Amino acid sequence: MKVGVAGTGMLGAAVARRLLDRGAEVSVWNRTRGKAEALAAAGARVAPTPGGAAAGCDAVITCVRDGAAVREVAFGAGGIALGPDRPAVCDMSTITPEESRRVSAGYAARGFDALAAPVMGGPDAAAEGRLVVMASGSAGAFKRCGGALEAVADRIFYLGGAAGAAHSVKLAMNLQIAALALSLSEGIALARGASVDPKSFLEVLNATYFGTGMSRKKAYRMIEGRFEPTFTLGNLGKDLRAATETARSLGLELPLCSLAEGVYARAEEGGLGGLDYTGILRHVEGLGREPPRGAG
Ligand SMILES: NC(=O)c1ccc[n+]([C@@H]2O[C@H](COP(=O)([O-])OP(=O)(O)OC[C@H]3O[C@@H](n4cnc5c(N)ncnc54)[C@H](OP(=O)(O)O)[C@@H]3O)[C@@H](O)[C@H]2O)c1
Repeated sequence: MKVGVAGTGMLGAAVARRLLDRGAEVSVWNRTRGKAEALAAAGARVAPTPGGAAAGCDAVITCVRDGAAVREVAFGAGGIALGPDRPAVCDMSTITPEESRRVSAGYAARGFDALAAPVMGGPDAAAEGRLVVMASGSAGAFKRCGGALEAVADRIFYLGGAAGAAHSVKLAMNLQIAALALSLSEGIALARGASVDPKSFLEVLNATYFGTGMSRKKAYRMIEGRFEPTFTLGNLGKDLRAATETARSLGLELPLCSLAEGVYARAEEGGLGGLDYTGILRHVEGLGREPPRGAG
């Protein structure tokens, strides 16, 4: 299996490493070349352009920040769609359904089989082959990308031929992430504000139906003030903007989504965008400036 990976940020690098571990021939490209070169020692071929990474491959995965970046690696100078080969293209980036539809149509117009395949789970899950994939788009591309997806994921949901379907579900999923991180942060802030050890809050929460993977794992790092990123707050903010834009385009009002978008945007403005998304706790804890009721 020959697979190209265009975009070796946190997630793309873990995907490329996992593919190498599983015996694939992997070629990589990244805008900041050093991040791609870091994969050479693990056996990846470093290409000078996204099209170069796609050359000679059965499938090429794109994993970049946003819609503009996906278009750039697809159709910009040295882009995948300009190359002589026609690998199946699998976009793992989180973008809007509308952007995904446009990118898929652009590939199709140039003779490429394109699949939208956003994922749940971060670099650690990719490294262990435990991503959850939501895929939609060309059935042919889904088949051709199957080997690469099975190497990195243990659950793969094919949602049909409509290009935007996978990203609609992905944005709905990231709304869950944003809301959970925010409600955990507010719970921790409330416990601390009342001079209760936030571990007690987590112990009680995790003894109930309402505990989650996040409250059982990441929440303990949150209360220790550890926010080393596996998925940045800035990227989650980008996804909340995508979700609100998509809701608006559908004529939907999603009050929690709009509220979360504003809270994460203010956290980014406060310089927290490079932290893990759970760093939203730092923003929440920085808000409590009013004197407690009854004081003075
Ligand atoms: N990390 C996760 O847990 C996770 C999980 C699911 C989905 N995702 C999604 O997967 C995508 C990548 O996430 P990540 O965590 O790997 O993010 P990241 O570490 O911030 O990496 C972003 C990648 O996008 C590239 N990029 C940004 N703008 C570009 C442009 N205009 N042209 C070309 N490349 C560009 C960056 O290149 P440079 O290195 O040159 O900046 C880098 O390779 C995002 O859409 C994210 O929302 C992430």
